[in-house]
Amino acid sequence: MLSFTMERVLIIGAAGQLGSELTQALVTIYGGDNVIATDIQPQALEKFDYCRTKVLDVMDKEAVKGLVKTENVKQIYHLAAVLSATGEKNPLFAWQLNMDSLLSVLELAREEKLDKIYWPSSIAVFGPNTPKVNTPQYCVKEPNTVYGISKQAGERWCEYYFQKYGVDVRSLRYPGLIGYKSLPGGGTTDYAVDIYHKAIAGEHFVSFLKEDTYLPMMYMPDAIKATLNLMHAPRENVKIRSSYNLAAISFSPKEIFESIKIHYPDFSISYAPDFRQAIADSWPDSIDDSRAREDWGWEHEYSLEKMTEDILKHLPSYSF
Ligand code: SER
Repeated sequence: MLSFTMERVLIIGAAGQLGSELTQALVTIYGGDNVIATDIQPQALEKFDYCRTKVLDVMDKEAVKGLVKTENVKQIYHLAAVLSATGEKNPLFAWQLNMDSLLSVLELAREEKLDKIYWPSSIAVFGPNTPKVNTPQYCVKEPNTVYGISKQAGERWCEYYFQKYGVDVRSLRYPGLIGYKSLPGGGTTDYAVDIYHKAIAGEHFVSFLKEDTYLPMMYMPDAIKATLNLMHAPRENVKIRSSYNLAAISFSPKEIFESIKIHYPDFSISYAPDFRQAIADSWPDSIDDSRAREDWGWEHEYSLEKMTEDILKHLPSYSF
């Protein structure tokens, strides 16, 4: 660990759901002077008063390159992306943003000989012809969302840059991420964050997925732990250079509702599936992540019940 402590770390898309919490964790490791949180939205950076910040458009290749060179950046966490539901509204833009930005970061890593790149993939790489239960690391993948197609293609590019150029790029196929410190934006799994906000506001919740739709999910502290474990694993332990399957829990809207109702007995739910139902139906119910467990010791901590307890304890007094 010690050898990483002085490295400059650049986070692209830091103000998003994952970045908001990952930035905090990276600052505790590398220090606020060595972490540069960037985002396209200036106001969104205001919350990062504990590290360096910069407004950055990932599509502006020269700006990204200039920052990397002048600040002697050694690691990039490239988190900016258009997610599954938003992607369907503007597919060509989603493709362009997700792919062009990854390729320019990989190319920069090759040219500037950066130490490490992190890029998130997703359960969205799987599709309707993928085995749904305990989805294996290697299986048929025929994603039918533009987000999933971009993540699948991105995985191929990551492996390509590792094999051809030795770029140390690491990646996880995140399940739906659930946290109380940040809000998701435009994903199919967002309902599992919104539901807690409605419960503590004393409001009725309308689920955009059917009651029995199972999806792989994960509490944010587990996702942060997995990301840091992967990024700090010895290079030779990271044997998969496309992206690792990663799992924790799996539940339906009815089950998460019931876990909340134990604490908020008056809480109510109804179901009004929309276009996101078809996206959820094309994704796995649960994931086999044994390769992550074998290669770099992944273990999750939070069950559905433990996550619900923790969120309901902290969310009411949390300010955004
Ligand atoms: N949470 C993401 C989404 O729903 C999946 O990676 O789009």
